[in-house]
Amino acid sequence: MNIVVVGGSRGIGKAIATQLAGDGNQVLIVGRNRETLENTVKEIGKNASFYQADITKEVDSLALAEYVKTEFVIDGLVLSAAQFPRQETKKSVIEPDVAELSSILEANVVANYRFVKYLIPLLQKRIHPRIVIIGSTSGIRQDKGGVYGISKWALASYAYNLRDECKAYGIGVSLINPGGTFTETRVKKSGDDHSLLESSDFGILVSALFRMSPQAVMERVDIRPIAGDTY
Ligand SMILES: NC(=O)c1ccc[n+]([C@@H]2O[C@H](COP(=O)([O-])OP(=O)(O)OC[C@H]3O[C@@H](n4cnc5c(N)ncnc54)[C@H](OP(=O)(O)O)[C@@H]3O)[C@@H](O)[C@H]2O)c1
Repeated sequence: MNIVVVGGSRGIGKAIATQLAGDGNQVLIVGRNRETLENTVKEIGKNASFYQADITKEVDSLALAEYVKTEFVIDGLVLSAAQFPRQETKKSVIEPDVAELSSILEANVVANYRFVKYLIPLLQKRIHPRIVIIGSTSGIRQDKGGVYGISKWALASYAYNLRDECKAYGIGVSLINPGGTFTETRVKKSGDDHSLLESSDFGILVSALFRMSPQAVMERVDIRPIAGDTY
């Protein structure tokens, strides 16, 4: 299969792209930083290529959709890019200013909504197309989410509605909600630190999702560390 992983150059998206490429799929990873994209493609090795784009910019999003249309026959889309809140006020819905809320909604909801709109006509032509949306447990719990939580609740609502509407197009839509996960920016304190999830957990999960029978869809999966949400 040919799978586009937006946010595939680092973190959870990178782990997903690495696993999918290892399974023999062609992956096109998307991110803003060219050097990171180049390094990740080198690391993944064969089956990986990249496209540099800022998904929040309409012009980039459209250019990426055009590229996919002409150069990459897409079967699957994984949406893993996100904007995170400022650390100091991350649990608050009073302190962050309106501009921060707008910008986080733009990045985590509007950008994905727009890009999917461009890709639906391409995906619906394929035999067993899938869209995988990476949400967060902040999009299902009712406290401590701050403005990021608002965006992930909106994204979850979008995913549920898209799942329903895409039945008619034969496109499977999945929402994966990670709890806290180790990435390049959330690093382990020591080798036996199990307080957060491993990024590779999402590679395993999304790999399984793409290998299930074509009529099966994982509608929503929530994954937390055994200790629960640690934020
Ligand atoms: N890590 C966690 O603890 C955790 C927990 C719950 C949910 N999640 C969710 O999991 C997903 C991945 O998180 P992560 O921790 O793996 O993030 P990350 O390590 O910061 O990686 C984000 C990826 O998205 C790309 N990206 C960010 N903004 C972009 C934009 N505007 N256009 C294109 N690419 C963009 C980044 O590359 P560039 O910066 O080069 O663009 C990078 O490849 C997010 O949806 C996040 O909300 C993460």
